[in-house]
Amino acid sequence: MTSTLEPTATTQQVDPFQTYEQRLRTLSEASVEQHFDAFVDIDWDHPDFAIDPTDERWILPEVDVLGGHPWYRGLPQDERIRIGLYRQANVTKVGLQFEQILIAGLMNYALGLPNGSPEFRYSTHEATEECHHTQMFQEFVNRSGQPVTGGSRFFRTIGPLLPLAAKAVPFAFFYGVLAGEEPIDHVQKTILRAGDEMHPLLQRIMQIHVAEEARHIGFAHQYLEHKAPRLKRSERAILSVIVPVIMKWLCNEILVPSRQARKDMGIPKEVMKDLYWDSPESRKFLRDLFGDVRMLADSTGIRNPVSRRLWRALGIDGRSSRFRSQPASAAG
Ligand SMILES: [Fe+2]
Ligand SMILES: [Fe+2]
Repeated sequence: MTSTLEPTATTQQVDPFQTYEQRLRTLSEASVEQHFDAFVDIDWDHPDFAIDPTDERWILPEVDVLGGHPWYRGLPQDERIRIGLYRQANVTKVGLQFEQILIAGLMNYALGLPNGSPEFRYSTHEATEECHHTQMFQEFVNRSGQPVTGGSRFFRTIGPLLPLAAKAVPFAFFYGVLAGEEPIDHVQKTILRAGDEMHPLLQRIMQIHVAEEARHIGFAHQYLEHKAPRLKRSERAILSVIVPVIMKWLCNEILVPSRQARKDMGIPKEVMKDLYWDSPESRKFLRDLFGDVRMLADSTGIRNPVSRRLWRALGIDGRSSRFRSQPASAAG
């Protein structure tokens, strides 16, 4: 446990003179130095953290795609509160389902590593942290009292098979990890940066999550950059096509409400179309989510003229970040 919620310097800066092994060691040491326990670092029973389903702080912030939409903003206040709490509980539920898949995948991946492998220690630190995240997220969902089911039925059905990819095709798996972690991290950071008055329990959860995700995303970037030069030409060609598809699919699973969630929230079909992803605002939001991944896809050599078209067709093309976590406005 530690009191600071800011990502440690070691997670944000990459020393160009460090070897891959040293960088992974730095990440592991940062995990020892700064980590959180869902039931030590959150005072769940503190009166300020109580969830009142009529609390207006559940109204979605304008930086949220749904929260900024004229349909949502035109609803009576009690409806905005009801939908806001449901929406935040459901996104949390999808996040935890994604993390369950990730933990299982990390274990499969670690099972195949030889003695002395530099990845073993860090991937296990990451799995430990994700276990705490799943507990923290589920506790929030339970206390919200919302009957949320998280991802789509399809996602929940094939979810148990996805961890198998971690052992069979770890390079694609770690891109999949980023496909889930980048959108969640981007959304949470945008909400925290906006500084609107939010419920302190959700704020605490997001701060803890953002602080630890910086390392997880850092590891995936390090791993992919390190392994990329060892890819065969044919592997690179296949990845150039499947990576943007995985990115868009998992991003949709996390951000687009499932059929059940849409029904429960009462979002009309035409508003759904507008939100995901027809309106200019939502298109920009979608493109901005992937600035860091585009940068990584460029540096790992899996964006070529053919796959660029696919990135564009899927609505996730745009300028690449110049450095990790560059705010979207600065990336242009
Ligand atoms: Fe997490
Ligand atoms: Fe993570």
